[in-house]
Amino acid sequence: MSAVLNAPVVADVPVPAFQPGPAGTHITVRGLTKHFAGWPLYEDFNLDIPKHKIVSVFGPNGCGKSTLINMIAGLVPIDAGEILFDGKSLKDTRIGYVFQNYRDALFPWMRTIDNIAYPLKLAGRSKAEVDRRMAELVASFDVRFDLNRYPYELSGGQQQTASIMRALAPKPEVLFLDEPFSALDFEMTLFIREKLQEVFMQTGTTMLLVSHDLEEAVYLADQVLLLTKRPTRVAEILPYADARPRTVETLSEPGFIQAKKRSLEIFQREVRR
Ligand SMILES: Nc1ncnc2c1ncn2[C@@H]1O[C@H](COP(=O)(O)OP(=O)(O)OP(=O)(O)O)[C@@H](O)[C@H]1O
Ligand SMILES: [Mg+2]
Repeated sequence: MSAVLNAPVVADVPVPAFQPGPAGTHITVRGLTKHFAGWPLYEDFNLDIPKHKIVSVFGPNGCGKSTLINMIAGLVPIDAGEILFDGKSLKDTRIGYVFQNYRDALFPWMRTIDNIAYPLKLAGRSKAEVDRRMAELVASFDVRFDLNRYPYELSGGQQQTASIMRALAPKPEVLFLDEPFSALDFEMTLFIREKLQEVFMQTGTTMLLVSHDLEEAVYLADQVLLLTKRPTRVAEILPYADARPRTVETLSEPGFIQAKKRSLEIFQREVRR
């Protein structure tokens, strides 16, 4: 009887139950809506991001790749919808974010080592804890440059390495990367790509990576999330399961070539639509 009395008054307007993702899902996006200046970018958009995987986001220019990861990371507000991490909200989730432009991302007045330690100090960790974590990061990134230097004294690749170390310092559950290689030269791109893969193999951190380079997007990915033109939908989610570590040889493996070809076909279909 009391259950009936406590039922919602608007009983004839059914509230859709939250649909969880399949087993192994880390991030669920449901009913996401985002308009800019009255124009829809996302409308009732749904997505499941798997845990302990790298998902590359690829799609036409301006389709909303950056906006999507920024909404999930809480940097851009959403108009409607729900985003959960293992069923938790963003505020109960540790995340890391690597910006495209490493030059603006590091604090120029802090030594590189203090930039990397910054999120730990902000979280009130003790000096011993900070020192321990810094030693771990230095070892896992096999850092060969002097972290006591200021960011402007380092090369672009070294600065982006430091940005990634800073993002990983608090051991995030999810790492967001928006075109992290686009400001780097080819040699540094290869270096950072391998570092990211190594870190992923050590930690299994869920990563959401925006890339405008299809080869790179596929190379690092367990799944390629292909988006349409706006209003943006999921064109396809393409699994790519070659073993890690992936190497230069991977680029000529049939599985890689096939995944890249299929991604390109979907991309071309969507831009011509
Ligand atoms: N703050 C904003 N105000 C108005 N429009 C915006 C804003 N941010 C993004 N947009 C628009 O939303 C669309 C998606 O932008 P977004 O930067 O997410 O695309 P993208 O896929 O990352 O593009 P690119 O490939 O150029 O990096 C674009 O049309 C852009 O002009
Ligand atoms: Mg972008």
